[in-house]
Amino acid sequence: MRILGIETSCDETAAAVVYDTGNAEHPWAIASSVIASQAEIHREWGGVVPELASRQHVRDICGVTERALGDAGIAWCDLGAIAVTQGPGLVGSLLVGVAFAKSLAVTLDVPLVPVHHLAGHVESLFLHHGSLPLPAVVLVVSGGHTCLYVVSTLGDYQLIGRTRDDAAGEAFDKVAKVLGLAYPGGPVIDRLARGGNAHALDFPVAQMKHLDRNRPPTVEIPGRLGRARLGMTDFSFSGLKTAVKRHVVARLVAVGRDVLPADEVADICASFQRAVVDALLDRTFDVARLLGARAVGIAGGVSANSRLRDEAMARGELCGLPVFLPALALSTDNAAMIAAAGLRQFSHGVTAAPDLNADAALVL
Ligand code: KG4
Ligand code: ZN
Repeated sequence: MRILGIETSCDETAAAVVYDTGNAEHPWAIASSVIASQAEIHREWGGVVPELASRQHVRDICGVTERALGDAGIAWCDLGAIAVTQGPGLVGSLLVGVAFAKSLAVTLDVPLVPVHHLAGHVESLFLHHGSLPLPAVVLVVSGGHTCLYVVSTLGDYQLIGRTRDDAAGEAFDKVAKVLGLAYPGGPVIDRLARGGNAHALDFPVAQMKHLDRNRPPTVEIPGRLGRARLGMTDFSFSGLKTAVKRHVVARLVAVGRDVLPADEVADICASFQRAVVDALLDRTFDVARLLGARAVGIAGGVSANSRLRDEAMARGELCGLPVFLPALALSTDNAAMIAAAGLRQFSHGVTAAPDLNADAALVL
């Protein structure tokens, strides 16, 4: 079956066609994947402006979808289902994709499959690699989320940890803003960090020692982690962000300028990036070891980070645990992962009624 994926949860309008290959080793393949990024529009404002994002999705969604069909060399009647990101995300942006997908599904008389954005990120790993040894511990690290899942069987995502405050990608974007760098900050910090000393500064990262009293009921800490380790599956990045901000403000006063010298910015980027990567990987690998996972997966926009990728592979080799990362094009938001997650859901019999609504706070 060929499925059309539609993704409009934030500032990328994306459409993709993914199909079943019939090959058990690599069950899904991408026929096309088109992304219209709004980064240029939001850069001027230093972050995503929700109203501008929804308006741009409306402008782009038809052209992006037609292009996805054209690139795949297929017609509308070749589609067997439509998958769409139902949430979480910016509600105005989500509504554009959901309304568009609903009308397409009704017009073409094919099933509509609702997809959780983070399930899409997890499935990007299966789309790229075919399969992962299970159980796998999967870290989804993006601009809006930092979540740790255990995947024990295909399509089952058990949330065992998450950030208590800022997402890791959000910390990248906010630190970049403090340094006067362009939005989105993650790729810029990644690039500048290559010319800096990752040990120049020792920024603190909070370690959670207690259970999150506000955790959603979906977060169940597996017994094997033990009560002594409660809280160890959670992350926190707002303290780190504040520490970097304080350092930058103090240094600007000290040098008496509006911007810091380039070599100092590079050192701050490299040291901040090291702190984030260590915090992400320490937790992920500790949890994987304690749960006896057979693989570690890392997905979401921040999984494009070069230090995170290199360190994750190195740690995996050191402890004999295979590490899976998506291709770079599948790390940041795209519709191929939504189509793949749609195929997974559809194979489990999940479809949506025509009154499907967007849900900005959808939980997984
Ligand atoms: O998954 P994604 O495309 O959108 C959300 O679901 O949020 O993730 C976007 C996030 C942004 O915060 C961006 O700065 C970050 O991913 N990002 C990176 C890199 N590329 C994108 N962070 C660090 N290093 C990168 N190379
Ligand atoms: Zn995302």
